[in-house]
Amino acid sequence: MSSSSNEKTKRILSIGELEAAALPMAPKMARDYWLSGANEMQTVRDNRSAFDNYRIRARALRDVSRINNRPQQLFGKTFEIPVGIAPTGFQKLAHEEGELATARAAQAKNWPMGLSSYSNTPLDEVKKAGGDSVVFLQLYVFKNRDTTEKLVRWAEQTGYKALLLTVDTPVIGRRFSDVHNDFKLPSHLVLGNFPESSGSGPVDVGVEPESLSRRGFADDSTGESQAGKANVLDPSLTWEETIPWLRSITKMEIWVKGIVTSEDAQLALDAGVDGVWVSNHGGRQLDSAVATLDSLPEVVETIKGRIPVHVDGGVRSGADVFKALALGADFVWLGRPVLFGLQYNGQAGVELLIDIIEEDLGYVMALSGNTDISKLSTKTGAPAAAEGEGAEAGAPAGAAAPPGVDGEGAGAPAGAPAALGEGAGAPAAGALGAGAAAGALGAGAGAGAGAGAGAGAGAPAAGALGAGAGAPAAALGAGAGS
Ligand SMILES: Cc1cc2nc3c(=O)[nH]c(=O)nc-3n(C[C@H](O)[C@H](O)[C@H](O)COP(=O)(O)O)c2cc1C
Repeated sequence: MSSSSNEKTKRILSIGELEAAALPMAPKMARDYWLSGANEMQTVRDNRSAFDNYRIRARALRDVSRINNRPQQLFGKTFEIPVGIAPTGFQKLAHEEGELATARAAQAKNWPMGLSSYSNTPLDEVKKAGGDSVVFLQLYVFKNRDTTEKLVRWAEQTGYKALLLTVDTPVIGRRFSDVHNDFKLPSHLVLGNFPESSGSGPVDVGVEPESLSRRGFADDSTGESQAGKANVLDPSLTWEETIPWLRSITKMEIWVKGIVTSEDAQLALDAGVDGVWVSNHGGRQLDSAVATLDSLPEVVETIKGRIPVHVDGGVRSGADVFKALALGADFVWLGRPVLFGLQYNGQAGVELLIDIIEEDLGYVMALSGNTDISKLSTKTGAPAAAEGEGAEAGAPAGAAAPPGVDGEGAGAPAGAPAALGEGAGAPAAGALGAGAAAGALGAGAGAGAGAGAGAGAGAPAAGALGAGAGAPAAALGAGAGS
């Protein structure tokens, strides 16, 4: 909970204040790029408002003079709290030191960091700056597999622990403001991981679908050599082909970022990945995708503790971190707030952001009567009741039942917030299905499962559509039926 020594950062107390201070300092094109989301930005808003569907049950007189905020290990290292810096591209848009400043802040504060494929700084330099804190290389797989393979091998040689394969980006989502601004990497910035490229070079940094078939590059169908294939995102990736291929070229762990359904969580397990990261790219890809906090429980329930489940999207406070952990995440990541910190004051700004979150989480833990953060992070997806006092105190069996099960939460009044915390799920909590006001629809939704949309939510105001949509994203409140 140290406070930054930098005068400039003294009076900033929340991510909201940091954002308000940082944004006016940035050019419009950068600001819009950070804040943008796909299409009408429904999912950007939902990622945030999903947190409002939960409240925390505070316990009293529990000696909170000492709090253990340290999570289980990640890649053999114990980080400060179970929160890290998600990969975001082009960090030199925010500060001249870009990813180096972020990595130094991560190391100074003992937070982990994921580096974007689209870093402005070469991955080896970032690794050197951040040491053990730089753990993930976020990976986009290009049509030109030689380019991808080179990147993967370089990351492995440099000491990265894991590839973080982003699976929510078969094509780049349409962010209207970026299209209107004709967003481009300024000419003085380069793609550090692709030295032969620049913003106008062969790697796809475009924001419009047309960039997928950028002129001058051969298409797969021509059957040309790898060297002739485009360094653009490959929309033909599959579970069957892509994960085994990555396994064949690296010994690093392979994680997937962008899992938001139980079906894909199962496929990830079947494919033998080492971890899943629940994400919808901060709402920048599919608009109307289910909020990540609402997707989290069904993923947690499917994974059942066999591999780690991480999450990002809309996390802006200690309470948000608490809620994501209580719903079963092992680790929580921040995207845009890091860019705000970086813009505000480089490394010191990112450190300030970290201080804000750590301090706030400390308050939430103490004020809610919780002393051990690992107790919030159950493997079942149930709130802390599964391992906490609520369970010992004879809370009904339903209290520890994982959320996200068909029909769970039936009868719970829609729209009221769910309660998280030790003993949540006990009747007193009145734990309700978060997201009850919105159902989840999707491919397969018709398969007798349509009824599952908004399961338990009573009359859902909106359904959720999607593959296997019978498995509802809607009924999330653990023990909500009890
Ligand atoms: C400006 C920006 C750039 C991003 N670049 C990448 C990227 O290169 N690769 C990736 O997998 N995710 C990228 N993301 C998504 C983040 O990793 C993360 O999923 C998201 O920002 C989390 O949501 P939050 O911003 O609400 O915290 C980007 C997000 C933003 C806002």
